Amino acid sequence: MPGSIPSSYKDLREFIAYLDGRGQLRRVKAPVSCELEITEIADRVSKSPDANYGLLFENVGGHNIPVLINAMGSRERMAWALGLRDLEELRERMSSLVKPEVPAGLLDKVQKLGELSEVLRYRPKTVSRGPCQEVVLTGAQVDLSQLPILKCWPEDGGRYITLPLVISRDPARGTRNVGMYRIQVYDRNTCGMHWQIHKGGTEHQRRALETGQQRMEVAVALGGSPACIYAGSAPLPPGIDEIMFAGWLGRERVEMVKCKTIDLEVPAQSEIVLEGWVDPAEKRLEGPFGDHTGYYSLPDMYPVFHVQAITMRRKPIYPTTIVGMPPQEDYWLGKATERLFLPLMQLVVPEIVDVNMPAEGVFHNLVIVSIRKRFPGQARKVMYALWGLMLLSLSKYIWVVDEDVNVQDMREVLFHVTSNTDPRRDTVIVEGPLDALDHATDKFAYGGKMGLDATRKRPDLDHFPHDWPNDIRMAPQIVGMVTRRWKEYGIS
Ligand SMILES: Cc1cc2nc3c(=O)[nH]c(=O)nc-3n(C[C@H](O)[C@H](O)[C@H](O)COP(=O)(O)O)c2cc1C
Repeated sequence: MPGSIPSSYKDLREFIAYLDGRGQLRRVKAPVSCELEITEIADRVSKSPDANYGLLFENVGGHNIPVLINAMGSRERMAWALGLRDLEELRERMSSLVKPEVPAGLLDKVQKLGELSEVLRYRPKTVSRGPCQEVVLTGAQVDLSQLPILKCWPEDGGRYITLPLVISRDPARGTRNVGMYRIQVYDRNTCGMHWQIHKGGTEHQRRALETGQQRMEVAVALGGSPACIYAGSAPLPPGIDEIMFAGWLGRERVEMVKCKTIDLEVPAQSEIVLEGWVDPAEKRLEGPFGDHTGYYSLPDMYPVFHVQAITMRRKPIYPTTIVGMPPQEDYWLGKATERLFLPLMQLVVPEIVDVNMPAEGVFHNLVIVSIRKRFPGQARKVMYALWGLMLLSLSKYIWVVDEDVNVQDMREVLFHVTSNTDPRRDTVIVEGPLDALDHATDKFAYGGKMGLDATRKRPDLDHFPHDWPNDIRMAPQIVGMVTRRWKEYGIS
């Protein structure tokens, strides 16, 4: 493990203390409003090249609960949140889990078994009590206006909980899902639950409807270890427990405690927990909301979450985030996902070298992928594979480049994409599912997609009629000589 970075944090407080120690947290003591003002401050800070900090607002008007925002809002802090020096290490950790080689000898087999059981080793453990239940409010005591929930943007339909772990159980199989879905506060105990049609929460709701359940229990946990918070946003396949995954990420089993009024468990180290239920048949208008697309998502019908209990620490901290015009904190949560899931993508699409989902592409709009090209049509094969792969199926644009193009460098990407393509020949237009928030399509969550094969075309692989010109590069011996003599030239 990296020297001074803790391999895990028991709770959000340990992470806050670590950020504080590294000079990456600003405690704001000036009075601020959770209506728009915190957004404007956090938006400036998250976009600042030299003053991007986690922010703890200690004096939020009308509330005695501090608000934490932008704690994971940089590459460095996102990595620290997961006990790493850099997000690239996520790729290495996942690679070692999924490397497809068949173990050769006995020693290899034992090692492989060890790696797989490593994840199981981190299954959550149930404890009888947790700090998140130091205070228990039920019935008429439940009042969401007591929490410093932000109104994020001027045209938002109300206040929104933006960094929740929404926990539900598959009514048929009993498996747990944890998703990060925003929650609009309608009044003291009712909310809009914004799980979108492609997500795990919606799947549980569908099953609850099919099996005739009238109430589907739902718990919402705020805070807990940063690994738990991140895990809520991770696109894991259905049936894989996000809490076990959080344990593996944080290298420590997550302690879970049974809720006070429903039959679900929540991370014991959470700051605040909402317990309640969703009637799978009930819907109400949710939104508008200033979204991660950089636009307001329009009001739409979503399930209603009825809160029947609030439990919390005696002195809780309210964690939140804002989304909007990128980049914001959610970009770094997404970057962690991109690095972590790359080895899984490579498992099924082995020619993939690297992937970049740039901030401006707001996750689903643009995926840039470099490949090792070996046969005709391979760039197209990669596009079709990604358009069929879990949430990547929602990607709108896919650009495929050669293995030597650094997809993380947008200047290199734009150069090769524009110069290596004949739009008539290299464009692939298809139709398929789109993100539920895509406002540009005329049909909900469905529309056109475009792939661009920006690889070099070669006579042997692409039936190309002539040779492809070489990139202009200086001879290495000249580069070396000029570097050695640079000072002599007296230029700088
Ligand atoms: C800050 C943030 C807010 C999010 N808000 C929503 C949301 O409101 N609705 C939604 O369906 N997904 C939202 N997501 C994306 C989901 O968390 C993500 O797709 C996750 O994989 C869902 O979990 P699931 O696969 O278990 O459904 C958000 C992600 C982040 C980082």
